Amino acid sequence: MTVVINMREGLDERKIKVAGRFILEGKLVAFPTETVYGLGADALNEKAVRRIFEAKGRPADNPLIVHIADFNDLKKLAREIPREAKLLADRFWPGPLTLVLPKKEEVPLVTTGGLDTVAVRMPAHEIALALIRASKPVAAPSANISGKPSPTLAEHVIDDFYGRIEAIVAGGETRIGVESTVIDLSSERPTLLRPGGLPVEEIEKVIGPVEIHPAVKGKAVDLAKAPGMKYKHYSPNAQVLVVEGPKERVREKIKELVEEYRSKSYRVGVMATEEFEADEFFYLGKTVEDVAKNLFKALRELDRQGVDVIIAEGVEERGLGLAVMNRLRKASGYQIIRV
Ligand code: TXA
Ligand code: MG
Repeated sequence: MTVVINMREGLDERKIKVAGRFILEGKLVAFPTETVYGLGADALNEKAVRRIFEAKGRPADNPLIVHIADFNDLKKLAREIPREAKLLADRFWPGPLTLVLPKKEEVPLVTTGGLDTVAVRMPAHEIALALIRASKPVAAPSANISGKPSPTLAEHVIDDFYGRIEAIVAGGETRIGVESTVIDLSSERPTLLRPGGLPVEEIEKVIGPVEIHPAVKGKAVDLAKAPGMKYKHYSPNAQVLVVEGPKERVREKIKELVEEYRSKSYRVGVMATEEFEADEFFYLGKTVEDVAKNLFKALRELDRQGVDVIIAEGVEERGLGLAVMNRLRKASGYQIIRV
């Protein structure tokens, strides 16, 4: 029932036509972007979009991002395009930036989770852009079962959706590894709703100060503006603990925790930027870019190895680090150990 369309060796226009036709027929097609894999459907087809929510087990009030391949498509989706939107799109599209704008009538409320705004982005991935060009604006949340870590490999999508959607375009590992940055431009001041692949510092260089929504750093709060924030997210089956603080002390604490949990006969996994003794270990890489790229893969991989607890090393909340820590804290259900 699920066709896996292999494009790991690169773009194939003939295969793209097939995938594009699926979208036009109201079917579900997972595809790679530069951030994570998306689970796509025709954004303007209510019935198709409803199937995305069903397949993911996603609450109906958590809106989807609409993906476009041409700036002119934004005019078909957004009622107003403020100056900031134009500036940011010029500078960062295609790229890992999503803009929330007042929506046009044509965009179904199913797509926007009942909101009067629509989230739009232009992905920087040749397969994603070709698929959109071969079909329509594509609504696509991350292609994971709701609550699970986002997929950065076609294999992750296959694990979650094989047999449940019509097609999966396999395009290799995603380059960035965390989802797009979401900026709300529909209210008085530009507000960061979700940190992501584009650091907020870069955005501020173009449009000036951006307000940080309180839920970005701390515990999730219930707020109608940022519906995605209140749900359980990125959680593997294992319990996750995040250790935050100065590097040296974090290192000591991780060692201590490994001992403690192992003495209680837990199978312990560690994900970190340097080697640790544990039952399972996942090396995240050196730079914060490496950590972002490997984060979700590490959570899924340690889970697959059947550990009971995952101890994750925190990183500094600068640049991509803000997105990394946001995802890690959520994955842990806010079980944060500060040293
Ligand atoms: O990188 C990405 O953004 C990936 C790839 C596939 O493009 N997509 C993605 O979609 O992460 P999803 O559905 O997992 O996350 C969408 C986020 C959610 O936090 C949602 O609440 C927010 O965007 N969002 C969407 N529409 C919104 C709106 N109208 N107002 C406020 N937030 C919105
Ligand atoms: Mg998601």
